[in-house]
Amino acid sequence: MSSSVSSTPAWNVHRLPRADGSVFLVTGGNAGIGYFVAEQLSATGAAVVLGSRNPAKAENAAASIRARVAGAQVRAVRMDLADLSSLQSVMDSLEVERLDAVVHNAGVALDDPPRKETGDGHELMFGTNHLGHFALTERLMPLLSAAPAGRVVTMGSFAAKSERLDLDDLQSLHDYRPKRTYGCSKLAQMYFGMELDRRLRAAGSTVASVVVHPGGALDSLTPSRPPMHVPTAGARLSGAPAALFVQGKHAGAWPAVRAVLDPAVSGGQLWGPRVFGLRGEPRREPVWKHLADTCVAARLWDASRDLTGVDPGALLGAR
Ligand SMILES: NC(=O)c1ccc[n+]([C@@H]2O[C@H](COP(=O)([O-])OP(=O)(O)OC[C@H]3O[C@@H](n4cnc5c(N)ncnc54)[C@H](OP(=O)(O)O)[C@@H]3O)[C@@H](O)[C@H]2O)c1
Repeated sequence: MSSSVSSTPAWNVHRLPRADGSVFLVTGGNAGIGYFVAEQLSATGAAVVLGSRNPAKAENAAASIRARVAGAQVRAVRMDLADLSSLQSVMDSLEVERLDAVVHNAGVALDDPPRKETGDGHELMFGTNHLGHFALTERLMPLLSAAPAGRVVTMGSFAAKSERLDLDDLQSLHDYRPKRTYGCSKLAQMYFGMELDRRLRAAGSTVASVVVHPGGALDSLTPSRPPMHVPTAGARLSGAPAALFVQGKHAGAWPAVRAVLDPAVSGGQLWGPRVFGLRGEPRREPVWKHLADTCVAARLWDASRDLTGVDPGALLGAR
């Protein structure tokens, strides 16, 4: 969180504090929840960078933000989280001297078999969602450390609440069920966000790591943002009853936006939507019992370091 962010007594998702002078990076900022995180952060006066694997989609998203937010400072950098070698150049391509926050939002969710792999040979969801962000964090740590109070905000999922990691089968080689593998990839991200904060604290770092989740966020409940997202009247109508339980992607963005901006949010915390963890304004949640298991988190960290060949904690001087 930037030191230039002014504090607010009560959080209002429609009246965000100013963050002029801050720089925020949102992975997967070209679509869905990430787009709305970027749009909402742009309205604070901060410079916002969209991390995207698709330049045309990123330009559409940036143009939409510029059209809606007067004076928006938004641009894109290319990054493919499924290609670990492509992340090496991200720090240089950002062309900034410090990074006040990164939102690890990009994600892939497969509905059906067969099991797929990244070009690096990792199961696609675990490789993209977890290993990609693990490696990206290592690349960005010098820039985050150069900010007065840098922040890593990891987008988890409610789907991770009912999953348990199999540390002997992180890549789902033996048990590939797409929904379970997706939920475990999100759980791995959440363990990472928690463990990162412990390592940052142990090293006396100014950077904090916060874990959030968006609840349930449906396209059919999401406001139109042409040309990226234009729900049909039929889709809106058929999706409407779901609004009792879940929300649109603009609202799914709220916990991450609060975790970036609110000085009252601290490292190691978990934030999600107020109503049953599925919809509504962001609130702090107790850390789920299994997510508090530091042994699992440490073993996952070591495995992730071995799989990626990088260690986001190495530059911290601890452990
Ligand atoms: N929607 C929900 O209800 C829900 C619930 C729980 C958690 N989440 C989490 O929230 C995050 C956003 O979800 P969403 O619903 O907004 O998804 P979405 O609309 O499918 O957007 C996903 C974003 O991730 C990007 N992405 C995927 N693979 C990538 C890669 N290899 N490199 C770089 N970017 C990549 C996509 O880029 P392209 O446009 O190029 O594909 C897109 O920008 C995800 O982490 C998801 O797990 C969502």
